Amino acid sequence: MRDDLQFDSHGRLRHLLTIEGLPRQTVLDILNTAESFISVGEREIKKVPLLRGKTVVNLFFESSTRTRTTFEIAAKRLSADVINLNPAASSTSKGETLLDTVRNLEAMHTELFVVRHRESGAAHLIARHVPEHVHIVNAGDGRHAHPTQALLDLFTIRRHKGPIENLKVAIVGDILHSRVARSAIHALTTLGAAEVRVIAPKTLLPTAVEKLGVHAYSDMRLGLTGVDVIIMLRLQRERMVGALISSEQEYFNLYGLTQEKLECAKPDAIVMHPGPMNRGLDIDSAVADGPRSVILPQVTYGIAVRMAIMALIMGGTAQAEGAAVGRRT
Ligand code: CP
Repeated sequence: MRDDLQFDSHGRLRHLLTIEGLPRQTVLDILNTAESFISVGEREIKKVPLLRGKTVVNLFFESSTRTRTTFEIAAKRLSADVINLNPAASSTSKGETLLDTVRNLEAMHTELFVVRHRESGAAHLIARHVPEHVHIVNAGDGRHAHPTQALLDLFTIRRHKGPIENLKVAIVGDILHSRVARSAIHALTTLGAAEVRVIAPKTLLPTAVEKLGVHAYSDMRLGLTGVDVIIMLRLQRERMVGALISSEQEYFNLYGLTQEKLECAKPDAIVMHPGPMNRGLDIDSAVADGPRSVILPQVTYGIAVRMAIMALIMGGTAQAEGAAVGRRT
């Protein structure tokens, strides 16, 4: 279902909160714009002036290495000023509400908030309360959504394997607690992947997961057979209530990606992981660091994808494309 909160009255993307219901053309616009921003990262001076004079606030209420840092680099490459608010050292720790924190930062004439929060719906809540000129990007909310991760995953798959329509993709691990899995499923089905599979013990699969348009497997070797892309996920022990796996050793034996299990996939299948990885639990080091792994390129592409998202939201399509190729707009 289309999330109207994401669009302005002219139908332009105003916030990025979720992939669910995002039109296919919007997804393609982001990926194509990101493609043109890749070259900016390869120049000696890695900057374009698109967001000069704008201020981006990174508001991360949950820990992050990749998302927070690549958003900061992306904003700086667009020439924006960037503020990283540390919630632990902010007035949040004195009881200030999320909306009051945002309102105070808004009063400092900031234009874009990148928000990560442990509560599902936090980015939507903020988006409902900000004035028209302020934009919100969801950098991960609870178990709900991680749209920029899904977009960088699509970008990585397209770069390494070609059109998504021709590909079978397996997502493996803790599907139940994973905002990455949920967003990846919506992104892959929006672009018409040939097949999306989820592989997990039954205790780590959401009920009626097939309604999302995926095929579910509990046997990892069967689920990996013939796939082009494997997306591994971290076991999210911090979100688990009760014993959902019998032991970590047994989980690794059944669902950890090893060289032997990787051989069930196509010989040229790629291996992805959003990070952080738990080596020896969700993935073996030989695979994570092996020739089929594109885990570090995912991180690099995350910069161009996040540049594209901020540029499109704040500058519009023409300006974003112009800036990426160095044209005056
Ligand atoms: N993929 C991802 O969200 O990683 P971080 O938690 O390090 O941002």
